[in-house]
Amino acid sequence: MIGLAVIGAGYWGPNLVRNAQATPALHLRWLCDLNEARARSVLGPYSTVQVSTCYEQILADPAVDAVAIATPAVTHFDLVRAALEAGKHVLVEKPLTCSYADGAKLVQAAQRAGLVLMCDHTFCYTPAAMKIRELIHAGEIGELCFFDSVRINLGLIQPDVGVLWDLAPHDAAILDFILPADVRPVAVTAHGADPLGTGRACVAYLSVWLSSGVLAHVHVNWLSPTKIRTVVIGGSRRTIVWNDLKPDQRLAIYDRGVDQAADPDERRQALISYRLGDVLVPALPEREALGAVMADFAAAITDGRAPQTDGHSGLRVLAVLEAAARSLAHGGTRIDIEGITS
Ligand SMILES: NC(=O)c1ccc[n+]([C@@H]2O[C@H](COP(=O)([O-])OP(=O)(O)OC[C@H]3O[C@@H](n4cnc5c(N)ncnc54)[C@H](O)[C@@H]3O)[C@@H](O)[C@H]2O)c1
Repeated sequence: MIGLAVIGAGYWGPNLVRNAQATPALHLRWLCDLNEARARSVLGPYSTVQVSTCYEQILADPAVDAVAIATPAVTHFDLVRAALEAGKHVLVEKPLTCSYADGAKLVQAAQRAGLVLMCDHTFCYTPAAMKIRELIHAGEIGELCFFDSVRINLGLIQPDVGVLWDLAPHDAAILDFILPADVRPVAVTAHGADPLGTGRACVAYLSVWLSSGVLAHVHVNWLSPTKIRTVVIGGSRRTIVWNDLKPDQRLAIYDRGVDQAADPDERRQALISYRLGDVLVPALPEREALGAVMADFAAAITDGRAPQTDGHSGLRVLAVLEAAARSLAHGGTRIDIEGITS
């Protein structure tokens, strides 16, 4: 059994607590939050899990092998570093940190200490994302032509980060997970707006150029009264539509697309022709992705291997986010990822 402590009992922390308690390899020993009453209310009156308001107390406990951190993004660097220095394996919420340089320091520290550092990119553990990855890697959609994600709803305006750092980590992580190994983001532009004067962008549009020449686009928004969570991935053979709000049909694979005429004579008359075909809806298991996150974290510790969304994947996501932040700060100019990572 791996002794686990969860730090952060706000909105997301209780989900870590619940899934940790449902993971046989993990033994939840502590829940830590600056607000003791909140931590106690998450556990309920009959729990034997200990409560603390002081993370140093938890890190000093030899029965704690690992920590799962669900505190605001600006606190991640200090908490993860302290946990690694105390010899604990770490699962930290997205984003890994608030800068690429800080993320790189943590990845190096974990490597030096031989500890697991995992970033909770929850969506990469959904059956839908796994199926998409399988289809793309097997060549089922043909050449990737576009990626378009809309992730909008009435969201909590975060006190520490804007909407790009809050919601776009999901899309950057999904892209990182599903793309073929030889295709990587190379540059971004980002535009944002703060129509309510909150002091941070609440609406943002992010364009990501990939090494294959393909353009990916992400729209994130905290101010939309309707919730939309749709990703469309267009291929030369098939197009995948992932509607995460449609449990009975999260994925639809359209055998439809646009063909370019090969014959030059034909080309003069019509540059493209439309191909109409079937729509396939794959049967996907309905399970909570966070359960799979916890299971992978535990197995990575036990087997001494990297989890699927390890520190490096957290770092690749940070490269996109930091480039986006720089673009946002410079009126939407194009920023090369290489300038962030080198
Ligand atoms: N994976 C996902 O789908 C997902 C969803 C929502 C939030 N998140 C992430 O989870 C993290 C937390 O978000 P949230 O919405 O739960 O925030 P929140 O503000 O609701 O909760 C954060 C909690 O951390 C506690 N805290 C802060 N500093 C602390 C410290 N030093 N020691 C102990 N406790 C401390 C606060 O008291 C608060 O209760 C963020 O990184 C966010 O991006 C991930």
